[in-house]
Amino acid sequence: MSAYKVAVLPGDGIGQEVTVQSRRVLEAAGGRFGVAFRFTEALCGGAACDAVGEPLPRETLDLCRASDAGLFGAVGGPKWDGLPKEKRPEQAILGLRKSLNLFANLRPAVMFGPLVDASSLKPEVVRGLDLLVVREGVGDIYFGQPRGIERLPDGNERAVDTMVYTTPEIRRILKVGFELARVRRKRVCSVDKENVLDNSRLWRRVATGVGREYPDVELSHMYVDNAAMQLIRNPLHFDVIVTGNMFGDILSDAASMLTGSIGMLASANLNETGFGLYEPVHGTAPDIMGQDKANPIAAVMSTAMLCRYTLKRADMADAIEAAVARALEEGYRTPDIFTPGTKRVGCKEMGDRIVQCVGGSK
Ligand code: IPM
Ligand code: MG
Repeated sequence: MSAYKVAVLPGDGIGQEVTVQSRRVLEAAGGRFGVAFRFTEALCGGAACDAVGEPLPRETLDLCRASDAGLFGAVGGPKWDGLPKEKRPEQAILGLRKSLNLFANLRPAVMFGPLVDASSLKPEVVRGLDLLVVREGVGDIYFGQPRGIERLPDGNERAVDTMVYTTPEIRRILKVGFELARVRRKRVCSVDKENVLDNSRLWRRVATGVGREYPDVELSHMYVDNAAMQLIRNPLHFDVIVTGNMFGDILSDAASMLTGSIGMLASANLNETGFGLYEPVHGTAPDIMGQDKANPIAAVMSTAMLCRYTLKRADMADAIEAAVARALEEGYRTPDIFTPGTKRVGCKEMGDRIVQCVGGSK
């Protein structure tokens, strides 16, 4: 039996702790379903800056290119905040997305029943939540040229970032959204700022055109400011949200809090070849790192996405998601989702319980 090659890039802070658990869960699922994995670990982020002086070493990129999928932890931390931009840990994830052309960033926000009380919103507003943010990952103001800070003759400074999208870039991400909507509730909400930005005028025109190719899927358009409001006011309204890189960054953080904690939100960064880099949406949480307090569920749910999108093994993905649901139903909670009457556990114990549930043991 040939093994799937998985690159493991824990990065910094709690990225280290949560990837230990997610890898264990993936192995346990593999054991149950007869799927073998070969894991290879590599440096990225601040850890790589410290070891080799750059956030995304060549070997790490080569390893990803030679792998079927990657498990990414998180990068960054106060220690590296003073570094010049190109040396900052964040360049690791941005560089991976750009170099591997991971243009489709899928961020599902799903409410697990037992956690309705952990959300900052009222239970009736979030119960049953199941939405998917499809964020474009390699374009927009994140990567547009020109950019930079220049000094003006009068001694002041001027900063420029360029928001740019081409028709094919908009088209391909919209198509991802429509395809996914087809196997969900068949509704796409395209988010833009068409009342102000030319970029968004093009976005909306292309989205409307792609929408005609999917007559079975309902397309709506929403301004990003309104979308931010509706996410908090009536999140159950949404099925699939498709949007650009910058708006998607912001809206996906907002969506994550609906589920109770950003520690619950998984994501996939996909390209056209089937390769995927799977990462929890949360960051490095330096305040709790190394204390066994991190919530591994986002990282674990990312491995379910790996099974679903790279391995095309919905059965394994379902089993991992069911194991997480089971651990929550049994009352296990990391501190970020703890509510009185539940059982407070650390990152490792939460991982242990999910591993047991995935393996089919009681
Ligand atoms: C995310 C993060 C990254 C982003 C940072 C770490 C560069 O916020 O994945 O949402 O802005 O894309
Ligand atoms: Mg973000």
